Amino acid sequence: MSASANTTKQVTFKSVFLRNRVLLLKIAIHLLAFLPLFGLYFLAFTEQLGADPVEEVIHFTGIGAFNLLLLSLMISPMAKKFRQGYLVQTRRLIGLYSFTYACLHLLNFLAFEVQFDLKLFFNEILDRPYITVGMAALIILLSLAITSITALRRRMGQKWQKLHNWVYIAALLIALHFFWSVKSDIVEPMIYFTIALFLLALRKDKIKRWFK
Ligand code: HEM
Repeated sequence: MSASANTTKQVTFKSVFLRNRVLLLKIAIHLLAFLPLFGLYFLAFTEQLGADPVEEVIHFTGIGAFNLLLLSLMISPMAKKFRQGYLVQTRRLIGLYSFTYACLHLLNFLAFEVQFDLKLFFNEILDRPYITVGMAALIILLSLAITSITALRRRMGQKWQKLHNWVYIAALLIALHFFWSVKSDIVEPMIYFTIALFLLALRKDKIKRWFK
């Protein structure tokens, strides 16, 4: 094959890749977010998840939800820094996966820790501050997930951005929830707190404007 034909083929491949990069990224996000969940529940149901599978499942879904939320907050600064504006189109999907993990985290708690006893669950919310804070964060994530639907976003106009700024409060509440939930080793929650604060510091001007 001649050199020019080769170049044409490469250019074509590159342009196809570039044209579909958002779609490819979204496929990668679906796989990277969904497969670990599938693996987790497979191991849990086949009793291969160690001595305390309940703790393992609650830990995995909690950390997964927080990781995905922080990742969604990293997208805008990264897109700006590296001038890759298309990355912003993946933010909603990552945020929705964070919410999905958080729902599973709560569902596991309801199923295994309080056996769907709602009275006991509400008592837990009132009696244990870390659960109160987790619940508050989940309510914020729920309202953000519902209003992420494009038609609602259009209808809400400027109010949409104001509501979605609450993601910063959710990130701080989850960092606090994590911090309060551990009994002794606070290194990991401290690292997460620092990352959350750093991501909020990058938006200090926007946050100041929001509070004015
Ligand atoms: C009503 C809502 C929630 C309940 C009942 C709840 C419950 C729990 C429980 C029981 C633990 C384990 C504590 C322990 O090890 O003793 C935990 C840890 C954790 N939760 Fe939640 N949670 C809630 C909301 C959330 C949300 C919305 C997120 C994140 C989006 C989250 C993220 C985490 C993280 C990161 C941990 C620490 C993981 C670990 O080291 O075990 N939680 N939560």
